[in-house]
Amino acid sequence: KNDVYILGIETSCDETAAAIVKNGTEVVSNVVASQIESHKRFGGVVPEVASRHHVEQITMVLEETFQQANMTAEEMDAITVTEGPGLVGALLVGVNTAKALAFAKHKPLIGVHHIAGHIYANRLVKEFRFPLLALVVSGGHTELIVMHEHGSFEVIGETRDDAAGEAYDKVARTLKLPYPGGPHMDRLAAEGEVNIDFPRAWLEDGSYDFSFSGLKSSVINTLHNAAQRKEILRDEDVAASFQASVVDVLAEKTYRAAQQYDVKQVIVAGGVAANKGLRKALNTKFADAKQELLIPPLELCTDNAAMIAAAGTVAYQQGHRAGWDLNANPSLDL
Ligand code: KG4
Ligand code: ZN
Repeated sequence: KNDVYILGIETSCDETAAAIVKNGTEVVSNVVASQIESHKRFGGVVPEVASRHHVEQITMVLEETFQQANMTAEEMDAITVTEGPGLVGALLVGVNTAKALAFAKHKPLIGVHHIAGHIYANRLVKEFRFPLLALVVSGGHTELIVMHEHGSFEVIGETRDDAAGEAYDKVARTLKLPYPGGPHMDRLAAEGEVNIDFPRAWLEDGSYDFSFSGLKSSVINTLHNAAQRKEILRDEDVAASFQASVVDVLAEKTYRAAQQYDVKQVIVAGGVAANKGLRKALNTKFADAKQELLIPPLELCTDNAAMIAAAGTVAYQQGHRAGWDLNANPSLDL
């Protein structure tokens, strides 16, 4: 038997997820139990509520994962789990479940970085070619990362304040859109016109860092001033103009980095990779470029465990093993 079957477990935020991946490239089963409905009325993820939900859901999610694959834990080569970053109480549920399962079934235990997972979601679509550039855009992250080989990550740029998804969610909240606001903003933006000139933070020449807090404040001020002057701004136009600012900077910096680092592939990862405006802008930018652009299907963009199993497979093949002292690390470095 040469095939490698890896179980992945992900509980870093508000999705309880488990998946089985074959050879790091093929999804065998993939189960996600979302808690979004429970957090909606609070307008964001409540950590303690998230932890409790994970505890309630994890056993069922695991059973469903094995059932869908028609496999058992005995047939797994390793148990892999998100060890960070994320909410500590939420992470602990996954880490302890993985430990218990690995201990009981005598399987290797491996900790996976959540962002490595988001990047490896793309390998479930197409094999990597190095060097590659990854744009990671989620609720907690905005990073440009160069990979020269499997399992090695060079962060060449990151946000200095808010993450892209965080900016989306905060602006959405001021427009009184439900949580999480990103998809609602995306939908509104498609119906609006780019007619408000919001700032774009390019930062220093040649910098691949990002900053979205100035843009967020500018949107809030614009809404506030309009309300005082009893001016009507269409939410659709605010969303479209905001989205244009975010997407311009993300697409342009990604394009420049791809040329400078002369990469073969550009991959997009994280929840904001679902954004239609971003997908369109990147597709246009890279239409005639020599780099191949990969954007995963929607269900692999947002948090899931198949991506953790995919990244975990590489860690397994490279010989990484965690001890029984594996712990949740809310601020784990990539
Ligand atoms: O990767 P993810 O599921 O969780 C984190 O690890 O953060 O990303 C969630 C983030 C949220 O901020 C959500 O609003 C944003 O991704 N998001 C979007 C879209 N879909 C999800 N933002 C903009 N446009 C979308 N279509
Ligand atoms: Zn994520």
